Amino acid sequence: MKKTLLKNIAQLIRVTQQEHGRGNINGAMNELSILHDAAILFSDRFEWIGSSADFPNELSYDQVIDCSGKVILPGFVDSHTHCVFAGDRSDEFARRLRGVSYTQIASEGGGILATVSSVRNASIEELAERGMKLAMEAMNYGTTTIEMKSGYGLSLESELSLLKAIDIVRKEVPIRIISTFMGAHDFPPEYSDDRSTYVDLLINEMLPSIKEQGLAEFCDIFTDTGYFTIHDSMRILESASALGFKLKVHADELTPFGAAEMAGAMHAVSADHLLFCSQEGMKAMKQAGTIATLLPGTAYTLKLQYAPARTMIEQGLIVALATDCNPGSCYTPNMQLILSLACTNMGMSIEEAITASTLHGALALCAEDICGSIEVNKSADFIMLDTHSYPDIVYHFGVNHVQETWAMGKRVV
Ligand code: NIG
Ligand code: FE
Repeated sequence: MKKTLLKNIAQLIRVTQQEHGRGNINGAMNELSILHDAAILFSDRFEWIGSSADFPNELSYDQVIDCSGKVILPGFVDSHTHCVFAGDRSDEFARRLRGVSYTQIASEGGGILATVSSVRNASIEELAERGMKLAMEAMNYGTTTIEMKSGYGLSLESELSLLKAIDIVRKEVPIRIISTFMGAHDFPPEYSDDRSTYVDLLINEMLPSIKEQGLAEFCDIFTDTGYFTIHDSMRILESASALGFKLKVHADELTPFGAAEMAGAMHAVSADHLLFCSQEGMKAMKQAGTIATLLPGTAYTLKLQYAPARTMIEQGLIVALATDCNPGSCYTPNMQLILSLACTNMGMSIEEAITASTLHGALALCAEDICGSIEVNKSADFIMLDTHSYPDIVYHFGVNHVQETWAMGKRVV
């Protein structure tokens, strides 16, 4: 593969594992070491990183790009999205603006179930098309790794269609895509009066079949009031784990439910949302090494309280940031906006937000050895910002600072 040299980089922010990896955080999320006037040599992987003046003459390259006046950062890792779906819920959004709650709309058969009905009437190609459009938008805003969940099918057949659509997106869009099975996103209408039968179906048929087809790496569940109970969540997650799925939990998003405690007890890789997470929940997550994935775009859209990011960081939890891009509670694939919301509304510093949206996102996907930081041998995933000063990404908000996105060594934007 062609070798490229980037030189004269005004600010290079690497977010290394040594500084910010698992076991090394020690409250240091706030510190980012910056290399000035830096250079990077890469093929599909980073091969040399240092200051421009130290670049060894004997190393060869095919092209050189002058990055004077530019910032280079790792590409964003968006570790939580529901980007593959069908239909339109802008009417619900408008109702919520007039004061109707998310829970009220869901109880009338709207919300997740409205999207389920659209998905069941869509073809795999239509689902993939929506996913591709959102993945391309994400890429334009600097995302180079994105997780996508199923969860709007709620039957084996429709969940398979969603996962196959994600697979098509993976082949068509040149960024890394990691997939998650979320058949436990809600109860389908045909089992609304017989919830335990749907739980059995998930355990006995859906999880084994999806595992057999190799369509998802993670299993996620919505553990909250009105959705999956702690007891059912544990049964489903135990079965998923026994089959080899890695675990994620939508935890304490709408109410304080004890879901973070459960996620810790189940050794989930991440617990996500956490708007109503308790002290005990944080303790359980810390003990298990479960990552706290915060999704401030959802609190913003639903006009709910934000997750207690400061307390989590002070208690030494690994905090990641993601979009939650979905048609109901947060319809944006833009990670730059998420950084902005995290800083202004959750009290995170710019440095913490950058760490949380790159290496810590990779940790939430167990992909920290592949992506999330600019280090030798890791995948050459990075973004070039059209500014000489990284704080602009939050300070000068509402504009797209990404001039170029590179994923796996290729310029994709
Ligand atoms: O992460 N909490 C559950 N799932 C999504 C919302 C899904 C929807 O409203 O369509 C979330 O917020
Ligand atoms: Fe979500």
